[in-house]
Amino acid sequence: MGNVVRRILIVGNWKMNKTASEAAVFIREIAPRLPAAPAIDIVVAPPFTALESVRAALGPSSSIQLGAQNVFWESHGAYTGEISAPMLSDLGCRYVIIGHSERRTLFGEQDEGIRKKIRAALAHDLKPILCIGESLSQRERGQTDDVLRQQLKGGLADLSLQAMAAITIAYEPVWAIGTGKAATTEQAIAAHRTIRTFLSDTWSAEIANATRILYGGSVTPQNIDALLQSDQIDGALIGGACLQVESFARITTFAESIGACG
Ligand code: PGA
Repeated sequence: MGNVVRRILIVGNWKMNKTASEAAVFIREIAPRLPAAPAIDIVVAPPFTALESVRAALGPSSSIQLGAQNVFWESHGAYTGEISAPMLSDLGCRYVIIGHSERRTLFGEQDEGIRKKIRAALAHDLKPILCIGESLSQRERGQTDDVLRQQLKGGLADLSLQAMAAITIAYEPVWAIGTGKAATTEQAIAAHRTIRTFLSDTWSAEIANATRILYGGSVTPQNIDALLQSDQIDGALIGGACLQVESFARITTFAESIGACG
């Protein structure tokens, strides 16, 4: 499948943590700990309410990029409580997490809405990070690959080759999220292969080769190294371990050392 080098991407998903003031303090502490001109992409995804303070704390020349955790598919209008893609772009967001398992299970998000969100993000220059992953019972029933293919199809159906170039996939087994029980590197590699084969069969070998596939679910400074040793794993989506300066700095430093050897 050729040998495009995929740049490592580390995303900190803050979930519903940190006020705007706490976020600014965190960024001021962590920014000097991160590489100034990294060989990897580093994204922080704070809650909507902290986007502005994070942007201000990062300053205009930071190499850390801003992401959001969700987006609504309409641009504006009578949608009480929702946030649109142009609003996020205007705040300096470059990425948006879409279809996280917490959105799917706690807020009833389904493929059709996820697909619309991806299209809205793309239309406003936001790079979607589509989250997919099987539950424990689906894995135990041997349905992992089917679930992954279904969620990919559901979220990405009919996207053009050009649109696909902006997509990142995050493989996050539901049983690994916030449980301290990460997938093994072998389990992650197997899932990433399934995803890449689907991309190749549905779009092209070039798209499969160029698309970054992140692993997420209980990533820590202890297991990031082993995960990133595989050339199938192009980065990580990190929840709990991105909330402390020390652990997020360590993870990005490990990732940087691997990315710099390229
Ligand atoms: P975790 O969360 O690292 O706390 O398991 C990952 C995620 O939900 O994106």
